[in-house]
Amino acid sequence: MIPRRLTARILLFALGFFAGLIFEHIRNTTTNTSAVTHHHQQAQLHPVATNTLTTDINSVIPPPLPTTAGPNTYTAHNDAQNNTPKVNAAFVVLLQNKDLHDMRKTMRNLEAVFNRKHGYPYVFLNNVPFTEHFKTHIRAMTTAPVHFGLIPKEHWSYPSFINKTQAALNREDMENRNVPYGESESYRHMCRYMSGFIFRHDLVQEYDYYWRVEPGVSFSCDLLDVDPFMIMKSKKYKYGFTIALPEFVDTIPTLWENVKRFRKLHPEHIAKRNSLEWISYDKGDTYNNCHFWSNFEIVDTSFFRSKAYLDFFQLLDDAGGFFYERWGDAPVHSIAAALMLDRRQIHFFNEIGYRHGLYEHCPESPELQLKCACDPKDNVDWVQFSCLRRFLEI
Ligand SMILES: *[C@@H]1O[C@H](CO)[C@@H](O)[C@H](O)[C@H]1NC(C)=O
Ligand SMILES: *[C@@H]1O[C@H](CO)[C@@H](O)[C@H](O)[C@H]1NC(C)=O
Ligand SMILES: *[C@@H]1O[C@H](CO)[C@@H](O)[C@H](O)[C@H]1NC(C)=O
Repeated sequence: MIPRRLTARILLFALGFFAGLIFEHIRNTTTNTSAVTHHHQQAQLHPVATNTLTTDINSVIPPPLPTTAGPNTYTAHNDAQNNTPKVNAAFVVLLQNKDLHDMRKTMRNLEAVFNRKHGYPYVFLNNVPFTEHFKTHIRAMTTAPVHFGLIPKEHWSYPSFINKTQAALNREDMENRNVPYGESESYRHMCRYMSGFIFRHDLVQEYDYYWRVEPGVSFSCDLLDVDPFMIMKSKKYKYGFTIALPEFVDTIPTLWENVKRFRKLHPEHIAKRNSLEWISYDKGDTYNNCHFWSNFEIVDTSFFRSKAYLDFFQLLDDAGGFFYERWGDAPVHSIAAALMLDRRQIHFFNEIGYRHGLYEHCPESPELQLKCACDPKDNVDWVQFSCLRRFLEI
């Protein structure tokens, strides 16, 4: 089973221990506490206009919208013509049947701000078959091609060398220490799948680029005249992100040792102009826990299919940390990109306003603010002051 995404659980936990934990973790592990301030995310509820309930309902129904749709008005069929994808690329979504409604909300948003004009296909993947109900209701959200795929068993199971008894003991221990998703077996399969297998799925295999989307995420900027896939292709970018932040140290106790081992074993895979400086304050001795938040990522799949990346994944997988610890695909992708790509092949998509759970990227520049419906104050300051800023400065 694929676990629930961060969305629902973050909203339940996060305002309590989770945010506190992250905050403490950041104090401990990354930059400068004086630069860190915390925005409490407060739900702003609209007051209910109870007086309208007693009046004639027709008097409060607004007139129909004009047919020329604005950027944030969804029109499923208006743009059906002239929306042939310019790049061999797709959205890729790993989700469960029960994520249907969150996914539909995300698709309505993504179609409205971007894809109704661009027509990129969607690939939905699950480790159990999608229901007909799911497929019908997803197909209704877009005129673009939609593909549904099943994840092969061998990509979603324990390697033979993993001692499952030990793995279970470690999960229990992490649960007792309140490590996020510390107890979850399916979360570990998901992270390993995203790290090493998604780009090998038959349905994903044929694309040169994918844009990872999760159920429940939202996009706040008008991207009708922006094609991130085209930007990736024309600028030869290999990895694109919007949010960079620190990982929970307790999920990756031995990840960096293995990264160091990889660097020694495979100096040929390390890029000359890499971004080691972004992820380490001491020239590679220790990890500063910075990573791209990979629930959003736009990637050139040839990077993940390269010998360099596959060697990296194999070494990590053989080390067992996806199961004995709780290595996330975010630090795995990020460290790989930082070491094996040229710094100039990694791109910050400032113009893509993006929110997942508690964390948001909202572009601050005056011209982008005109195209985005988000509050720059919702950019959690420590994101700006730590990992993102560091990345932009190297
Ligand atoms: C932060 O550091 C303090 C003191 O060294 C330690 O007790 C605490 O467990 C650390 N917290 C995290 C989340 O690493
Ligand atoms: C921390 O940030 C403050 C304000 O940006 C700066 O004045 C100070 O020098 C920084 N300290 C360290 C140790 O980087
Ligand atoms: C698996 O781990 C358990 C718990 O540490 C241990 O008792 C057992 O001997 C291990 N099995 C193998 C085959 O190593």
